[in-house]
Amino acid sequence: MPLSTRSQHSTLTQFLIEERRRFPDASGDFNALILDIALACKAIARGVAFGELGQVLGDHRAGETGTVNVQGETQKTLDVLSNQAFIRRTEWAGNLAGMASEEMDDPYQIPAKYPRGKYLLVFDPLDGSSNIDVNVSVGSIFSVLRGPEDGRDVQESDFLQSGNRQVAAGYAIYGPSTMLVLTLGNGVQGFTLDPNLGEFMLTHRDIRIAPATQEFAINASNSRFWQAPVKRYVDECLAGKPGPRGKDFNMRWIASMVAEAHRILMRGGVFMYPRDTKDPSKAGRLRLLYEANPIGMIMEQAGGRASTGEMPMLEVVPTALHQRIGLVFGSRDEVERIERYHREPAQTEEHNPLFAERSLFRY
Ligand code: AHG
Ligand code: MN
Ligand code: MN
Repeated sequence: MPLSTRSQHSTLTQFLIEERRRFPDASGDFNALILDIALACKAIARGVAFGELGQVLGDHRAGETGTVNVQGETQKTLDVLSNQAFIRRTEWAGNLAGMASEEMDDPYQIPAKYPRGKYLLVFDPLDGSSNIDVNVSVGSIFSVLRGPEDGRDVQESDFLQSGNRQVAAGYAIYGPSTMLVLTLGNGVQGFTLDPNLGEFMLTHRDIRIAPATQEFAINASNSRFWQAPVKRYVDECLAGKPGPRGKDFNMRWIASMVAEAHRILMRGGVFMYPRDTKDPSKAGRLRLLYEANPIGMIMEQAGGRASTGEMPMLEVVPTALHQRIGLVFGSRDEVERIERYHREPAQTEEHNPLFAERSLFRY
């Protein structure tokens, strides 16, 4: 590729410096933090790309036994390595008051040998990690919050901030190309990793989500556990052109939320991992602080919407670091429709096939 083709894109560094000029009082700590996160993501991208050759696939083994995280999930080797990459690349610089991650039970304290800063970093180091061994796209998700500024140890309550208090949010996707998608609260930008330069280049400026869509994503194997509003929405999509929606829908399920979020940012769509009745002890599958909130901020900043089904995701006040929640996000019209179905009284007769004419319950 000729040099001139490459030079038309800004680097992530250039973008951050130009953004910072809008805030003359900014210290530069924030930009430094984002660049350190980007470096962690580049390291993870390399690790993922080596696949079997890197001897990093499979479950993580500590001694003879596999390890399980606070969620009760078996950790993959790459979950653990990615978690370490985030910590090692960001802890030293004096920008962070503390961190929290899917892979750590408790908040991470910045070691005493390093200065402490004013931000909190919350992350899912490797999202979709059950897909690593089958070479499907995975990603990292992160959220930046303000933290205590007095240098004390952080505690769980410092992190329990609603999503609309996020300073920045983003994800990296490790797919056919590696991308970093970032919001600083002023729209959403997409950067593609130039593997030759090792730099994230601004390739997708001000990403906007189409408000309407004909594509939805849900794990349909859970359908018997869905609540009535979700069942109604999916039934109507499946009914296609002759049904109440008057158009055919397509369905996708990658089981890698970052990849679903990215597809939706690029061409519209709606994603649902709603609260269901499968395990009443769990208020959903996905985690509020390092999955739903950062993806929610990106969706809202791109003109889409993110919701629990009942309320805007970014207004939820968290009660626990690893809290789970029902998550619906994507094209605005569809998310609003799903929210409306949650508000409307359950439509027992017309929308439940068991009650339909000539069914089990009608004679
Ligand atoms: P993680 O790998 O960080 O635990 O998250 C996986 C999540 C998410 O990426 C995906 O949407 C969902 O799990 C898939 O769940 P199912 O296996 O139930 O489809
Ligand atoms: Mn995840
Ligand atoms: Mn994960």
